[in-house]
Amino acid sequence: MRTIYMDYAATTPLDPDVLEAMLPWLREGYGNPSSPYAAARLTRAAVDDARVQVAEALDVKPGEVYFTSGGTEALNLAVKGAAFAARKRGRGAHVVVSAVEHQAVLASAAFLERQGFGVTRVPVDEYGVVHPVAVAEALRPDTALVAVMHANNEIGTIQPVEEIARITRARGVPLLVDAVQTAGLLEVRPDDIGCDLLALSAHKLYGPKGVGVLYVRTGTKLEPLLHGGGQERGLRAGTENVAGIVGLAAALKKALDHRPGEAARLEGLRDALIDGIRRRVPGAVLNGHPVRRLPNNVHFSFPGVDGESLLLNLDLAGVAASAGSACTSGSLEPSHVLTAVGLPKELAASGLRLTVGRHTTEEDVAAVVDIVAETIEKLRGRAAAAARLLHGE
Ligand SMILES: Cc1ncc(COP(=O)(O)O)c(C=O)c1O
Repeated sequence: MRTIYMDYAATTPLDPDVLEAMLPWLREGYGNPSSPYAAARLTRAAVDDARVQVAEALDVKPGEVYFTSGGTEALNLAVKGAAFAARKRGRGAHVVVSAVEHQAVLASAAFLERQGFGVTRVPVDEYGVVHPVAVAEALRPDTALVAVMHANNEIGTIQPVEEIARITRARGVPLLVDAVQTAGLLEVRPDDIGCDLLALSAHKLYGPKGVGVLYVRTGTKLEPLLHGGGQERGLRAGTENVAGIVGLAAALKKALDHRPGEAARLEGLRDALIDGIRRRVPGAVLNGHPVRRLPNNVHFSFPGVDGESLLLNLDLAGVAASAGSACTSGSLEPSHVLTAVGLPKELAASGLRLTVGRHTTEEDVAAVVDIVAETIEKLRGRAAAAARLLHGE
């Protein structure tokens, strides 16, 4: 049986061109970039070239690009690094985060709270939108950072980050934008957004896992979290993941080059999925914003259907999908995002996220609509039969 992969928000397959670009740095190019001989200088040059490539893609200075072990580390460094740096200068003791951020931001903020920092979690509306006024109201004289993601990984809502940036900039507070889900789908140039910190992850862009970027606008103060050999200009110690960094740069360039056509194609597939499911599944509730949503994201709740059973049955039918984020699926707690948009527990527990990508075809979409509709009909039929038995009918 063929598997239809509809979980591109969780991760993407490695692009063969990216693999080709990486291979020399896994084979012969093994020198430590910090070593003082010719073979090592080659790897140093590969890292430097990748930094320039990423900087060109984002239209920033190479010195503002820091390589990390992924999105999670980039976000930890931004949130904790900004808070610790502000406290060190006797300035900030407070961070503002939206209620729908990825756990890498929310758990970092919770950690800061345990260390005595103040944390304000800005609520969202029913579509998952963070309102700029709510961010403005959350700011305090000692606010060290505001974190609002570019688009949500579960329900796909795109945030008004440009408007939020105008507010934070006027108040002199650094803004962190988590662009892990948006690079390759939306415009992610920090100057266009107006943010001071921006996080990316290669494995969401058809690049390798375990490598990411934190863009840090010149003048933004961060305290390092990893101490050691002083790599990445003292901000992120540790021998560089040379092949990963080369792969990230190649993947980012390709994703941005293909963005306009690919985003439009994905939007077509997304809308066909939404329309098909709405037509075939009575009562289906679309979560997230109807228009301001990621070109590749579909998220529904199905009344009367248990989300876990739905995923299991879809898996058996060859569809790889998820309930929400990769880390919340499999847990019995409803996701913090669905809770934040005010979804009743029953609907939150019946969520299905389908995310399309580079290899998704119209045939895949048609097949998945059929499979989802048939699976839900079967599950609802079973639930109705069980209820009749329970009531002795
Ligand atoms: C919005 C968002 N931020 C951050 C991350 C974490 O990135 P990484 O998997 O590279 O640690 C993810 C991954 O699921 C994500 O979707």
